[in-house]
Amino acid sequence: MFSWLNNNNQSEMPEKKELDPDNIPAHVAIIMDGNGRWAQKRHLPRVAGHKQGMNTVKTITKAASNLGIKVLTLYAFSTENWKRPEDEVNYLMKLPVDFFDDFVPELIANNVRVNVMGYTDQLPQKTQTAVANAIKDTQDCDGMVLNFALNYGSRAEITTAVQTIAKSVQQGELKPEDISSEMISAHLMTAPLGQYQDPDLVIRTSGEERISNFLLWQIAYSEFVFMAPHWPEFTADLLNQAVYEYQHRKRRFGGLTK
Ligand code: FPP
Repeated sequence: MFSWLNNNNQSEMPEKKELDPDNIPAHVAIIMDGNGRWAQKRHLPRVAGHKQGMNTVKTITKAASNLGIKVLTLYAFSTENWKRPEDEVNYLMKLPVDFFDDFVPELIANNVRVNVMGYTDQLPQKTQTAVANAIKDTQDCDGMVLNFALNYGSRAEITTAVQTIAKSVQQGELKPEDISSEMISAHLMTAPLGQYQDPDLVIRTSGEERISNFLLWQIAYSEFVFMAPHWPEFTADLLNQAVYEYQHRKRRFGGLTK
């Protein structure tokens, strides 16, 4: 890892590096961490961090689309986040409503299509409606897919997939030996992303270096970039730096480099 990626001091950042336009990661997935700490550092309530984090989502969506990224997956709410105080959960549930209310016209102007993966039927009705409307309003956009993971958890996702496949076996529609890696992928919530279902690059902000139940199956061959800034202070320039680091990795997928 490049040391400057873990350095909050912008003045020590190197000059902007040129990216190779032919090696842009198709699917970038981001664990948007550090909203609470960003707020605490400023003596603000945690939810102020989430609000600023929502603004960062707007900035990074446009930057990712401009870079030519095909799918941007953002981990917005995990199946474990329900454990947070009720006020914070309520705030996080209202964020998509505010976000889509305000931002759908810009998404359409940028040809960005919204997709949401997760146990959305467990979300409050207003959140479900906002999500459904955003998906419908952007359905004709054929540029980048902005894929929110909302009430998403990878272990739950894999468990659901295994249950579905097991039922097919039980009903005699499938033999256990016919279960393939491709079949498992096809039963996951990323299946609608087609050829882009596995992230090429996973970014986590705020200096934490863990996966937190995010896309456990799909990240088998992803590149990871962990960055020190908290999500509310993440910028298009930092996204470029992560892509730059990605472009200097050697991806071997278990094979040998040429
Ligand atoms: C993690 O930071 C962040 C979250 C659990 C929520 C992420 C949500 C957003 C960035 C806004 C989403 C916007 C839309 C449009 C849905 P944390 O609260 O765990 O931070 P901490 O580790 O510093 O406490």
